[in-house]
This record gives sequence, C-alpha cells and structure tokens, in this order.
Amino acid sequence: MAFTLSPVTPVARDTFHALWQQLEAHHQQIKSLHLREFFSKDGERFHKFFRSFEEIGVDFCKNHLTPETLSLLTRLAQAAGLEEARRMLFQGEAINWTEKTAALHTALRQETTTEILVNGHNVMPEIVAARQQLQAFSQRVQSGTLKGARGEKITTMVHIGIGGSYLGPKLLVEALAPYALDSAPQIRFISNMDGDDFVQATKDLNPHTTLFILASKSFATLETTLNGRTAWQWLAQAMDDPHEIARHFLAVTANRQAALHFGIPGEAIFPGWRWLNGRYSWPSAISLPVIAMIGYDAFAQVLAGAHAMDQHFLNAPLTDNLPVLLAMISVWYTNFFHMPTHLVLPYSHLLRSFPDYYQQCEMESNGKTARRDNTPSPVATGQIIWGQAGTNGQHSFYQLLHQGSHAFTADFIAVLQPGHTLHHHHQELLANCFAQSEALMVGRTPEEVRQKLLARGVSPKEVETLLPQRLFPGNHPSNTLLLDRLTPYNLGALLSLYEMKTFVMGVVWGINSFDQWGVELGKELARGIGQHQESLLAGNPLDSQTCHPATAGLLHHWAKRHPVKD
Ligand code: F6P
Repeated sequence: MAFTLSPVTPVARDTFHALWQQLEAHHQQIKSLHLREFFSKDGERFHKFFRSFEEIGVDFCKNHLTPETLSLLTRLAQAAGLEEARRMLFQGEAINWTEKTAALHTALRQETTTEILVNGHNVMPEIVAARQQLQAFSQRVQSGTLKGARGEKITTMVHIGIGGSYLGPKLLVEALAPYALDSAPQIRFISNMDGDDFVQATKDLNPHTTLFILASKSFATLETTLNGRTAWQWLAQAMDDPHEIARHFLAVTANRQAALHFGIPGEAIFPGWRWLNGRYSWPSAISLPVIAMIGYDAFAQVLAGAHAMDQHFLNAPLTDNLPVLLAMISVWYTNFFHMPTHLVLPYSHLLRSFPDYYQQCEMESNGKTARRDNTPSPVATGQIIWGQAGTNGQHSFYQLLHQGSHAFTADFIAVLQPGHTLHHHHQELLANCFAQSEALMVGRTPEEVRQKLLARGVSPKEVETLLPQRLFPGNHPSNTLLLDRLTPYNLGALLSLYEMKTFVMGVVWGINSFDQWGVELGKELARGIGQHQESLLAGNPLDSQTCHPATAGLLHHWAKRHPVKD
C-alpha cells in the first residue's frame, strides 16, 4: 500500500511503512481466529492484557491480538512520530497547523506554573489568574452572596452553549451530582436553537433568581447567541433596566469584545483562549456550572486527575500506556479489520452522557481525511462513536449487536464501588456488564444451542427448527474499563484518557485533530437559505441561480405552511 505520512522523517516513514505491511501480514494470519480460540490457546490472557493506572484498570483481553500485535502497533505509533507530536502538544507548539495555533488543554490542568510559551508568550499567568477568578466565583456561590439585580439569591443557573461548550459541562454536572454541595444552585442547560429547548428549560423559573451563563469560545455561534438574546428578552419581561438584566448573565469566551457588545459587564466575563478547542475546553471556565455545583476545590480534583493521566501518557512506556493502547487497538480494527464503528457503553447512570461527550471528541477531531501535506489519507480515518448507558441499551439496540450483521468494537466502562448504598443494584449492574462483553465475545455455537434446548425438554425436531434463530456468532471484540470509584479525580483521569486516545489516532493517521472545517459548509448554506426564507415570506420568487432545486422544493413546501405569515 502506498502510504505516506508527512510529519515523520524519511527514515521513520520507511519504518512506518514496513510496520504497516507487517501488520497487514499479521492480520492475515490471525483474522480468522475466533476470539474463543485466543482463550483456548492461552488461558492467561486476562493477566497478559490488563493494564492499570492508579484507580483505572483497562482489560483488553477480549481482542484479536497477541503480544506480537501489541509490539507492532506500539512501534507503529512510535514511527508515526508520536513522541515528537506529544512533546509539541504539551509544549504549546502549533500542533493545529491549519489554524496556526497550539492546543493547550493540558496547560489548564498543569500543577506547576512552569512557563509554557505560545508564540513567545507565557500563557501560565493568564491561566493562574483564570483559576483565581473561578475560585472567587465558587466562594460567592457557596456563601450565597451571588445575587440577582434585586438582591435575591441566585438559585438556578442556566448554561447556554453547544458542542464542546455544552457536552463536557453537562457530563461533569451529571457525573458529579453526588458531590453537589448543599449550597449548590440547580443547573439547567440550553443548547439547541429549537425554541422548545429554551421554553422547557425556563418555563418554571423566576427571572430574579436565575443566572444565565453564555458559554461560547467564539461568541459567534448561532445557537448560543440566539438563545442568549432570547434569555435577555425573557429577563426583560421582569425587569426594565438593561443594567439589571446584565447582572443576570455571565459569559465564558475568547471573544471578550463580542460579550461586552452583547451587554455583559467586563467583570462577569471569564476567559477562553484561541488555543483551547471547544471539545477540549472542559478544564476551563466552560465548566462554571459544575464549579457552582461542587465548589472549586472538588473541580481542582478533576483537573488533578486529568493532569495525572496526562503525565502517564507522557511518561509510561508505550506498551503500558493506557491512551496509546486504546488508540492503537482502535487503529488495528479501523484500518486492518475495516471496522469503523465503536460503541461506548458506560454501565453507570452517572456517566450516561459520556458517549455524547466522546462522540464529539473523536468524531470532530478525527473525522477528516486531508493530511498535513494536503494529500488525502489512503486509509480510513476517524471512528463512528455511539452508545448509551447500560443496562438501558441492552433493551434497545443490543439485539443488533448480538445477532445483526454489522461488525463493531466496544468499550464497556464500569465503576466498581458505587457512591450509593444500594449494593444489590450495583452487583446486578456489574453482572450485566461482564455478561455482555462475554456474550459478545463467545456467542453461542449450534451445539451449545442444541444442548440447551434439549435440556429444556424441546423435541429434537423442534430444536432443529429453532436453532438458526437462537445462534449467537460472538467474536465481537471489546475493552472493559474499570474505575475503582467515580470520584472527581478519576473522572478527570478518564476524560484525559479518551482525549489522548483521540490524539494518538490523529497522529498515526497524520491528520490535524484540532480543527473542524467540516462544520462550516452547512453553517454557510443555512445563512443563504435564511435569506431565501425571508424572500419567500415577502412574496418574492426564489432565485433559481442561488437556490438549489432540491432545497427550493423544501422551501416552497415550508412556506405554504408557515404559521406566522403576515
Ligand atoms: O460548530 C462546531 C463548533 O465550533 C465546535 O467545535 C464547538 O465546540 C461548538 O461549535 C461551539 O463553539 P463555540 O464555543 O464557539 O460556541
């Protein structure tokens, strides 16, 4: 295969190609082995393919791999330039080469204040100042001195944001709900431009005790500015003075001017940075709602956990390095087994939004094919991420997983010690989690089905009729991640683990994981279609030069039914 990866030296590139070819040959050798056979050859697989870091264990024994596979994959990561890319990431170099900027989410959780230079400018003093601003905010919430314009205590915070300005904070608020302080306000989220989202989130709220957080790195995102303006109008129904209304807003943004222009006072604006991508921004003030809920000290624990995993990623040997292992297993399946679909299945109600969070992290980061030298990737890039919390998913889409025709890989995520005392619930939950990964792996053979049915007294003739319907092919690979406890610290470590996994895959594929040009085309067309809508409502014909006939059909159908024609 003609595979050229641009960021590596010619020598590394040759090594990379040679390893890729060895992996292709190795794949031919082992691809038809059923996962059952890996275990019949080696009963010690669990111990050989289990690694841990602090309170997170990763079991990857249920995969089509041997020690040789691991060795080849980790050497491939090395030849792709992982160590240099990792250094560039942590040291604030312009790893996001299309936007000529760094991607410095790791600096936000760095414990020391050792300088990090971005274009010669040390960013650490700004980060320290931002942390102090968050601490002061947290103290005001906890002490009850955060008040509305008429002096009433703020009891609800409504976070308005979308994409990374929403998914991370939402996950954190849900996952850390057991750590909520008594003084915590209730937290709500509005993300969608669909007015129902705004209406449902605010319908029972008192404007005098409600604070809106406008979270947008760009402060130009249509959904967020639209919802922000609606929030302003909603508050204006209860207070006339714009200064009073403004006191019911906070903003988090890298575009301070736009927030000021919106009407938010300077002291109510928390910083974002050009070098911080939305999907990696949870370690910043984007997490204001969770800071309000658990307090800054507990949030600092989330940062500490992420920092610890960052350090593990930087320092652990590649064959023991959790993000590298998860990434290279995904590369193995995506590129050699041609299995692009990856499920994330947290057996944890508190982590129910983890699949949504990671879906953006991976699909917006690696869903692209143009490489550094502008050539298209000759191999598949990115993974299709989806999933939901167990056991709910078992009663929904697992049927297709067990007996459908599609190939997929999966990560099961479980917490061993719950924060509640309903231990019998938890034991059942874990039994189901472990059962599903086993069932997906071993399946059920015709002989096993026969024996089961005969043992139940089904006649031999009936058995043969039922048999094809009762078969489970199995052979579906999965990893199982085990968190001892779902603490703020361990949650931070889990987030970093998946962020770094995504980073490693991007490096191997030679793509920029930190831009997102793919979201622009639809936004641009929506602006043009908005103009066509206005024109139609004004009674003008559509301009056939600029309106695609397929869209014109939709617009005419819409215009006939438009509810507020006047
Ligand atoms: O449109 C995609 C995107 O830019 C994401 O990358 C980002 O997380 C989201 O929109 C929100 O962006 P912002 O924080 O600038 O409102």
